[in-house]
Amino acid sequence: MPLSRRSLVGAGVGLAAAGWLKPFASRAAEPRFATDPFTLGVASGFPEPNAVVLWTRLAPEPFAPGGGMPSAPVEVRWEIAGDEGFKQIERNGTAYATPEWAHSVHVEATGLSPGRDYWYRFTSGGVRSPVGRTRTAPARDATPAELKIAVASCQHYEQGTYAAYRSMAADHPDLIVHVGDYIYEGRGQRAVRSHDASEAITLEDYRLRYAIYKSDANLKAAHAASPWMLVGDDHEVANDYAGDHFLDFEPALFHSRRTAAYQAHYEHLPLPHRFIPLDGRQRHYTTRAFGTLVNLIMLDGRQYRSPQACDGGPLVLPCAELVAGERTMLGATQEEWLKGALTGSRARWTLLGQQTLFAHVDESVDKEVRYWADNWNGYPAARARLVDFLAERKIRNPVILSGDIHAFLVNDVNTRAGEPDSGIVATELVTSSISSNGRPQKDYDVWKPKNANVHIARSDTRGYLRLSVKPERLHADLVAVDDIKRDDSPTHVLAAYDVEDGKPGIVR
Ligand SMILES: [Fe+2]
Repeated sequence: MPLSRRSLVGAGVGLAAAGWLKPFASRAAEPRFATDPFTLGVASGFPEPNAVVLWTRLAPEPFAPGGGMPSAPVEVRWEIAGDEGFKQIERNGTAYATPEWAHSVHVEATGLSPGRDYWYRFTSGGVRSPVGRTRTAPARDATPAELKIAVASCQHYEQGTYAAYRSMAADHPDLIVHVGDYIYEGRGQRAVRSHDASEAITLEDYRLRYAIYKSDANLKAAHAASPWMLVGDDHEVANDYAGDHFLDFEPALFHSRRTAAYQAHYEHLPLPHRFIPLDGRQRHYTTRAFGTLVNLIMLDGRQYRSPQACDGGPLVLPCAELVAGERTMLGATQEEWLKGALTGSRARWTLLGQQTLFAHVDESVDKEVRYWADNWNGYPAARARLVDFLAERKIRNPVILSGDIHAFLVNDVNTRAGEPDSGIVATELVTSSISSNGRPQKDYDVWKPKNANVHIARSDTRGYLRLSVKPERLHADLVAVDDIKRDDSPTHVLAAYDVEDGKPGIVR
């Protein structure tokens, strides 16, 4: 049976990493690079007790078509060691970087030991990459004393520096969680810095956009410091797209744009092979256990959702469509999968990493009630299904990690949405943006008093969340960037909150 081009390429990436792909091996060239091919750095991701994904992309000229690479497969050696000096190399192999996948490399390094640091690097054409540090997840039955997690979202290149990543890299967290808007497909306003690429539509456009973003030294440092887990949001594709819908685009036209965007997303991030896009779809949702301490569930609230309700958004007056029971944020398949992931967890803390604001928030600055149609307030029936499930099944210590709104928020998630006295089911920590502009603080100051479940709402600062998860307590620092115009800006802790084991909501 003849393989389609797509399935052959997809299979090639998977097999190459396993190190036994003969057809490519016989064609692969030993390249000679005039300049450094590792301009986009190295990265690791999706750690398991015995495995981690290692990533790089060969691009000696990252802003040129094809990254300045020949249109032929290229051999890349990879090594992972137990020490920074690579005296104890634990695993190594050869991968094949192919032009069909922008000469990116995704290695699933296996046979590692749980809960420890590793260092990795790549070599091609006699040139060595920078060294990255990664860390495997603890053993399934281990209870680590602490897990350190950083949470990031929304990194508009033109609207600010990546000083937040400089600070995050210096923290050396066990894991960095990114909940979306890793790139922006459009152009920026109120710019701090600029690039001259036009709006991304084609595969080459999206590749260029990732190359521009990933040329930033602070972002590369954060990738080289810790393993990442990511889920894309809308701007990796197009603003506020919902499932197969984007504005009034012809479905077929939008489908091809989204297919290009998903491919570039895979090519530029340390994603497992099962996230290879196929037929215009890309798996994003998954779960990782960190011993018996943390179960982290990453959700995709973008690809399977119903279109936004009540035309005229983004901030809408509730209409009949908004509250319709059949509307979905995750899609039926993912919703069922999530129930299994929640009940199957044995961990003390259940972290849900996902894109948009989850808790009930009325963002109206006048006398009406208004909801942001693109976040969970635009999908109240879907939110109620998840809240009811968390409550009925007594899921342990649910903490929702969100982004998207370019503001820090800390929220109680109540049993009944909009009723702050109805009991607390979960805590939500919303990270501000790494660099994207926030909406005016004065609007937040007006609507916050109307929402007793919201403890802080700060849209006037960029930054990230720094979590320390211990068996008895989760501590969250809201880390703020002092000066978004400076690459080397210091950061400070804007506020800090704690959640105690068995007591949903923040410690007061
Ligand atoms: Fe954003």
